[in-house]
Amino acid sequence: MIVIRKVDELRKYSIEQRSKGKTIGFVPTMGFLHEGHISLITRASVECDLVITSLFVNPTQFAPHEDFDSYPRDFEHDYNLAKNADCDVLFVPAREEIYPEGATTSLSVGDLAYVLEGKYRPHFFDGVATVVSKLFSATLPNKAFFGQKDYQQTLVVKALSKDMLMGVEIVVCPIVREPNGLAMSSRNKYLTDDERNKAKILFQSLVATKEFIESGERNRKKINAYLHDSLRKLESLKIDYALAVDASNLEEPNEFDEGSEIVLLLGTILGKTRLIDNMVVKVPITKYNEDDRFQIGLK
Ligand code: PAF
Repeated sequence: MIVIRKVDELRKYSIEQRSKGKTIGFVPTMGFLHEGHISLITRASVECDLVITSLFVNPTQFAPHEDFDSYPRDFEHDYNLAKNADCDVLFVPAREEIYPEGATTSLSVGDLAYVLEGKYRPHFFDGVATVVSKLFSATLPNKAFFGQKDYQQTLVVKALSKDMLMGVEIVVCPIVREPNGLAMSSRNKYLTDDERNKAKILFQSLVATKEFIESGERNRKKINAYLHDSLRKLESLKIDYALAVDASNLEEPNEFDEGSEIVLLLGTILGKTRLIDNMVVKVPITKYNEDDRFQIGLK
């Protein structure tokens, strides 16, 4: 694995590789790698000839009161993990490489940036879109790999690639969880042992609500109430949002259609740590249409 720190050098590398017909898989990260990131690198190495992973704590996606300064950073740890996974290039740019002095251009995502997570972090998605587009320009990937844990972010980067004609395929990979169900995140480092244990309520509530939907409930308000009741068992958990929305467009119909996909989205705070999580649930089909009856021999 090689380490590249300069944008020009990385772009030259990528142009050379692509001219040889190699496909490039890109895994953008803010470092402090964990098994979730490693699963993205592994998937990229299966689907592409070369894997580039970036480590860059992006200042524009943090508000002044947020944890940019204290965000965990450990180059040696990241280097070893990426090297042991199938990463070919570790891209570690300095701030001025990504935001050259005097740079004023940024991207604006639109409505998707200001709902749900964006309501509580209004700067966040424009910052993500801006840095991801810069990183794509430096990396020139065929495919980019993102974790489903940041569900809204995956919709934002899909829209980014499509709207800005980038031609980068966005691959969304499953959430990797700790043994108690807590979704892996670099920010889990902020949790005390007690909080880490209590944080399992997020996964438990998602699973219980999934089962509630699978038992036949399609009414959005009832599903939301069930999810809230489940989370409220942990009194110290602050709930910013916990709700069921259409997985494809985040819309909130009164009743979800049979066969459609719901995503249960959670934005919460435990102690000083922001915890997000989600689960996609397929609404069961309870009625057979004529074709189904034919298929299963009821005619
Ligand atoms: O998901 C993250 O770690 C970040 O938002 C990303 C995509 C690397 C952009 O800074």
